[in-house]
Amino acid sequence: MAIGLPSTDHFVLLTILICLLVHHCSAVYDVESTAESGKLMSAQLKLVGGSADFGPDVKSLTLTASLETDSRLRVRITDADHRRWEVPQDVIPRPAPGPQPKDVLLDSPGNPSMPSNSTMSSASSDLTFTIHASPFRFTVSRRSTGDTLFDTSANLVFKDRYLEVTSTLPADRASLYGLGEQKKETFRLQHNDTFTLWNGDVTWSDQPDLNLYGSHPFYMDVRSGGAAHGVLLLNSNGMDILYGGSYVTYKVIGGVLDFYFFAGPSPLDVVDQYTQLIGRPAPMPYWSFGFHQSRYGYKNVADLDGVVAGYAKARIPMEAIWSDIDYMDGYQDFTLDPVNYPSKQLRPFVDRLHNNGQKYVVTVHPAIKRQAAAHEDLFLKRNGANLVGEAWPGEVYFLDFMSPRSTEYWARKISEFRRTIPVDGLWCDINEPSNFKQWQPLNPLDDPPYRINNSGFHLPINYRTVPVSTLHYNGVSEYDAHNLFGLLQAKATHAGLLRDTARRPFVLSRSTFVGSGRYAAHWTGNNVARWDELAHSINTILNFGLFGIPMMGADICGFNGNTTQELCSRWIQLGAFYPFARAHAEKTTLRRELYVWEATARSARKALGMRYRLLPYMYTLMYEAHTTGAPIARPLFFSYPQDADTYGVDRQFLLGRGVLVSPVLEPGATTVDAYFPAGRWFSLYDYSLAYTMKVGKRVTLPAPADLANAHLAGGNILLLQHAELTTSAARQSEFHLLVALAENGTASGELFLDDGEPPEMGAVGGNWTLVRFSCDREESKGMVTTKVSSHVVQNSYAPSRAQVIGKVVFMGLQSAPKSFTIYVNNVELKAARTKSRTSGVFSVSGLSLAIGQKFEIKLVMSH
Ligand SMILES: *[C@@H]1O[C@H](CO)[C@@H](O)[C@H](O)[C@H]1NC(C)=O
Ligand SMILES: *[C@@H]1O[C@H](CO)[C@@H](O)[C@H](O)[C@H]1NC(C)=O
Ligand SMILES: *[C@@H]1O[C@H](CO)[C@@H](O)[C@H](O)[C@H]1NC(C)=O
Ligand SMILES: *[C@@H]1O[C@H](CO)[C@@H](O)[C@H](O)[C@H]1NC(C)=O
Ligand SMILES: *[C@@H]1O[C@H](CO)[C@@H](O)[C@H](O)[C@H]1NC(C)=O
Ligand SMILES: *[C@@H]1O[C@H](CO)[C@@H](O)[C@H](O)[C@H]1NC(C)=O
Repeated sequence: MAIGLPSTDHFVLLTILICLLVHHCSAVYDVESTAESGKLMSAQLKLVGGSADFGPDVKSLTLTASLETDSRLRVRITDADHRRWEVPQDVIPRPAPGPQPKDVLLDSPGNPSMPSNSTMSSASSDLTFTIHASPFRFTVSRRSTGDTLFDTSANLVFKDRYLEVTSTLPADRASLYGLGEQKKETFRLQHNDTFTLWNGDVTWSDQPDLNLYGSHPFYMDVRSGGAAHGVLLLNSNGMDILYGGSYVTYKVIGGVLDFYFFAGPSPLDVVDQYTQLIGRPAPMPYWSFGFHQSRYGYKNVADLDGVVAGYAKARIPMEAIWSDIDYMDGYQDFTLDPVNYPSKQLRPFVDRLHNNGQKYVVTVHPAIKRQAAAHEDLFLKRNGANLVGEAWPGEVYFLDFMSPRSTEYWARKISEFRRTIPVDGLWCDINEPSNFKQWQPLNPLDDPPYRINNSGFHLPINYRTVPVSTLHYNGVSEYDAHNLFGLLQAKATHAGLLRDTARRPFVLSRSTFVGSGRYAAHWTGNNVARWDELAHSINTILNFGLFGIPMMGADICGFNGNTTQELCSRWIQLGAFYPFARAHAEKTTLRRELYVWEATARSARKALGMRYRLLPYMYTLMYEAHTTGAPIARPLFFSYPQDADTYGVDRQFLLGRGVLVSPVLEPGATTVDAYFPAGRWFSLYDYSLAYTMKVGKRVTLPAPADLANAHLAGGNILLLQHAELTTSAARQSEFHLLVALAENGTASGELFLDDGEPPEMGAVGGNWTLVRFSCDREESKGMVTTKVSSHVVQNSYAPSRAQVIGKVVFMGLQSAPKSFTIYVNNVELKAARTKSRTSGVFSVSGLSLAIGQKFEIKLVMSH
C-alpha cells in the first residue's frame, strides 16, 4: 500500500538544513571513579570539555559494563543524575542494567579506586572490556582471536537530545553487514555508507540508501580469517550511523548509549547470541511457507474467486489469497464493503478456500476512523485530546499499542471480526505509522537541534507520520517511542490472534524494530517492478535474517509499475526460494498473477514445484531459526566463514546450510556468473555432481529460461516431499531422503515435524518429532560401505509413525559399482528397486521407513 506523493514545498523548506550534515560535535569526559565486582564494572564520568552545539552537555555520566554471558557484554552510558528514556523492559525483556543513577553502585564495591585504566574480564568470557581514564574511552576485545572489536575515540557527546560516539574499525580486515532498514545496492556495507534509523512510509521506496519502515541498529562484523561478532546499540530514538570503513559513528537524538557486544566467533554464533537477547524468531505456521497471492485492487469476491480458479486451472500452487484495503467499508479496519465484499459472499468464499486447504489473509491499519471510536480512550494524544491525523478512512485517530486498553480493544476486534470472516492471518500495513496529514513545525520537541537524514533530505521527523510531540500511554512521547510502533502493533496482533484461535498466529508487519521477529514476518515493502529491485531484494532479505526476522520476502513481480513477462518469470524463479513467498501488486498496474503469461506459468510450476518439495526442509529451518536464531536464507559466509571470497557475494544465497540459489537478475541473460565455495556441489534438479571445488571459484552457469540454478553442497542430507497444489496435500506425500556425500563420504541433516500450527514449536511436552540423519563411509577389502542412519531425538507427533520415507537417493558415490547389496536394519533388501547412474547417483525406492523410527541403511558396493 502506498500513499500519494508529498508536495514539493517540503524540499524548498528543508534543503537549507542540509548544512547540518557536515556538523561534528565534540566533548570529552574523564573517569572520576570506577568500581568493579566480578562481571560488573561501573564508572563515573565527568565532563572536561564540551561545546554548545545541539544544547548543553550532560556533566556527569554513569557507565555500567557487564559481562552478561560468556559471549555477551553490555556497556551502558547514561546521565548520572536524571533518568532518561530507554526501550522499556516489557518491550524487550532483558536483564536489568545494574545499578541505577545514584543508587548504590555495586553490591560489594570495595573502595572505589582512583581513576586509572582498567580492564574487566572473566575466565569464562570471550570478551574483555577496558576503560581508559583520561580522557575517557573504552575498548572491547575478543580473547579467542585477539581482535579489538570496538575502540571508541575520546570524543563522546552526551546531551539531552544529541549523543555521539565513534569507534575505529580496521578498514582492511572488517566486513560489516546489517544496519537498516535500508535498500542497499550491496549486502556488505560499503565505506562511507550512511544509515538513518527512523521508521517511515517512504515515498521513494525504490531508491537505495533511505530510511525505510524499520529500525535495526545492529551490525555483524566479519574479520578476515572468518571470526564474526555483533554490535547492537539498543536505542529507539532516531539516529544517523556513518560507516566510514575505518570507523563507525552513531549520532542519536535521544535515549541512552546502551551497547551490546556479541562475541561470535562464527556468524551462526552471533545470531544465536543476538536472538537470545532480543527474542527468538516466532515460529511460522507450516501453511505460511506456501505461495501467497495478493493485490491491491481486487474488485470483489468474484474477482478473488477468479484468481483462485486461475491458479487451479494453471496448476500453480497457491496457498493463500490476500485482500488489501479493498475489502473494507470506507477503508475501516474490521469492516466489509457491503457491495463488493458482503459477508454473505465473502464468508462462503473463505469457507470454500478452507475446504480446499487454502487460506485467507487481510490487511489491517493502525488508524481508526475518527467517528468510529471517539468515545474510547485508546489513542495517541496531543494537548490532552486524541491526535487527529489523516489516513485511508479520512480523519483518524491512531491506536496506542502501548496502552493495555488498546491492545485489549485490538484483540476484541480481531476476535469479533473472525466470527464473521475466519481469516487465517493478519497483515499490519502502514504501521510506521503512516499519516497523510502535513504538520507545520509544532513545538521544539518536533524540531530537534540535530536533524537526522530523514528520507535522504533531512526532512522533519514528523514527515508523513504522527508528530513526535504526541503522547502514548504513561506519558511516553512519540519522540522516543516512534520506532517501536510497528513492533507493538505486531505484538498486539500476534497476541490477539493467539487468544482467539489458540493456534500459531501468522502476522506480517511492514514496520519493525529490534525484536519484531518474535511476532511477525516482514517483506521489503513497496518495491517497483524493475530488475535492480529484483537483485536488491536479496540484500534486504539477508539483512532481516541477521535482524532475527527470518520470515522475509519481497513482492514477487514487483509492486509498483507494470512488470514484464520476463521479469515476472525471473522473479518467481528467485521468489520461490524466498523464506516468505508472496506476489503483490499495485492497483493501477496490469494484472500479473503467475498464470497470466504461459511462460511465467511454466516457471511458476517448476520453481514452486521445487519449493513445495523443499517444504520439510524449509520448515526444519524455521525450527532452527526459532531455537537458535539461524536465518532461513543466509549469506554464503555463514557456511564458509573462512573463505573471504564469499564476503562480497550477494547475488546468490543459501537456504539453510547447503542449498545454494543462483538466480538470474538481469534481462536477456542466458548465463549466470556464480560463486561456488570449496567442496562438492550437486544439482538440486537432477542430483548430478556439478562441481568439485578444491578452492572456491566463479563459474559461468547456463541459465535455463524457466528455472533458477540451485545446488546442494556435499555433506548435506535433505528430506523432500512431493510437489502438490497446497502445503497440506504436499504434507501427506511420502518422503525422499537425499544424501549428498561430501568427498570423505559423510553427510548429515535433520527433520522437524509437528502439525504446523501449535503455538509453540519444539516446546517441552509438545507433540513434535525431531530426527537427525547422518551418513558415513567405511572401506575394507575392496568393499565400500555407505551407511545412513537416523537418530530419533523426540517422536511425539503421532503421524510420524505412519509417514514414511519411500526413497533414498545417494549422490556422489565414488563410481558405478560392479555389484551392490543393500541392508535395511541389517536385513538384506532383495526386492528393492534401484537405479544406478554413472554420475554416482544411486537410488533405492519402494522403501517404507517410518520417519519416527530409528533405521539404518547400508549400501555395500564392490568395485
Ligand atoms: C591509559 O591508556 C591510555 C590510552 O588510552 C594511555 O595513553 C595511558 O598511558 C594509560 N594510562 C595508564 C596509567 O596506564
Ligand atoms: C569516504 O569519504 C572520505 C572523506 O570524505 C574520503 O576521503 C574517502 O575517499 C571516501 N571513501 C570511499 C571509499 O569513497
Ligand atoms: C542523506 O541521505 C542521502 C540519500 O541517501 C545521501 O545522498 C546523503 O549523502 C545523506 N547525507 C548525509 C549527511 O549522510
Ligand atoms: C500499466 O499499463 C497500462 C496499460 O498500458 C496503463 O494503463 C497503466 O497506466 C500502466 N500502469 C503503470 C503503473 O505504469
Ligand atoms: C568430512 O568432510 C566434511 C566436509 O568437508 C567435514 O565437515 C567433516 O568434518 C569431514 N569428516 C570427517 C570424518 O573427516
Ligand atoms: C499431544 O497429542 C495428544 C494425543 O493426540 C493429545 O492428547 C495432547 O493433548 C497433545 N499435547 C499437546 C501439548 O498438544
